[in-house]
Amino acid sequence: MNTKVVRIKEEEKTREALEKNPGLLEAAEILRNGGLVAFPTETVYGLGANALNEEAAKKIYAAKGRPSDNPLIAHISCMEELPAIVKEIPEAGRKLAEKYWPGPLTMIFPKKDIVPYGTTGGLDTVAVRMPVDPVANCLIHLAGVPIAAPSANTSGRPSPTKAEHVIEDMNGKIEMIIDGGAVGIGVESTIVDVSSEIPTLLRPGAITIEMLRETLGQVDIDPVILGPVSGDIKPKAPGMKYRHYAPKADMTLVEGDMDKVVAYINDQTKKAEAEGKKVGIICTEESRDMYQGGNLEVIGSREHEETVAHNLFAVLRDFDARKVDCIFSESFSKDQLGQAIMNRLCKAAGYHIVNV
Ligand code: TXA
Ligand code: MG
Repeated sequence: MNTKVVRIKEEEKTREALEKNPGLLEAAEILRNGGLVAFPTETVYGLGANALNEEAAKKIYAAKGRPSDNPLIAHISCMEELPAIVKEIPEAGRKLAEKYWPGPLTMIFPKKDIVPYGTTGGLDTVAVRMPVDPVANCLIHLAGVPIAAPSANTSGRPSPTKAEHVIEDMNGKIEMIIDGGAVGIGVESTIVDVSSEIPTLLRPGAITIEMLRETLGQVDIDPVILGPVSGDIKPKAPGMKYRHYAPKADMTLVEGDMDKVVAYINDQTKKAEAEGKKVGIICTEESRDMYQGGNLEVIGSREHEETVAHNLFAVLRDFDARKVDCIFSESFSKDQLGQAIMNRLCKAAGYHIVNV
């Protein structure tokens, strides 16, 4: 298949211009006809298909090499599109929608029959998100159907935050890629189950647990977010059980006081390089000058954690391209946006964490 790449520049992103953009109109047509289109959102690039068409959803699983029990998020463009796909909108869902939609928040609702099990991985619930990114929002509006869209990466690889990442993974496998430049946030949406009595956080993201609790009061946290999944704990978001976001090299996450972390990584790097290994180090603006060897990637600044989220997946992909044998990474605090950052880094490291 020949994959068409359509570039949309910053100055073309007004709603008025987007609604007439020939590339976006063609993309909407492809989606309506059951094809696949990758597009930017504020979190990561998505791989879209008509969420109400089981055959189209199947194509997503094939293109990504994704296990078919891992359900997809249905994306809508405005509140009026929600009642068509969900049975009820619980109070918690209404409150969060008011505060955080459109935005980087996904909510789990009981699904209506119109949503096929092919989209929900056999579940009676459906995950719904309303992106704020102007390209994503307008594309969904133009398609006129809810759009199922997982992250547009090959299953298991780091999520794509630039069109180049999508091209790497999806070229030749899908009809079209819309290149809207680098995404803003860089980690996937927060997922909250509002179908249960007490709302539960299933995946941390830019809408933090602190923000959710401020709006809702009590919010539980699915234990899988905090540590590795043991045999008997089943994550409520099926996707959280897979080894995700993983770079090709073995990765070690190092926790502890800054000085000790740097000393440990310097020491390990020296040893690995003596064995002829190529070592990658994930450091920060604050620590970049403290390393003596290795291949550095600056993930961002500790003073602006949103820069760390923004660069996280690109750094992991860059190390894949640089073909390092092992990666050592600094760690971050686990509150606010740090919870999402550490969740992704822990998973990338396969929970290989050293405390120094
Ligand atoms: O930011 C995002 O959410 C991006 C962009 C493209 O919108 N999408 C995304 O989709 O991250 P994906 O497929 O990579 O992750 C969806 C997650 C998976 O962990 C999946 O198991 C969970 O959502 N999920 C989907 N439907 C669910 C349901 N009905 N119940 C529980 N978890 C669900
Ligand atoms: Mg994903």
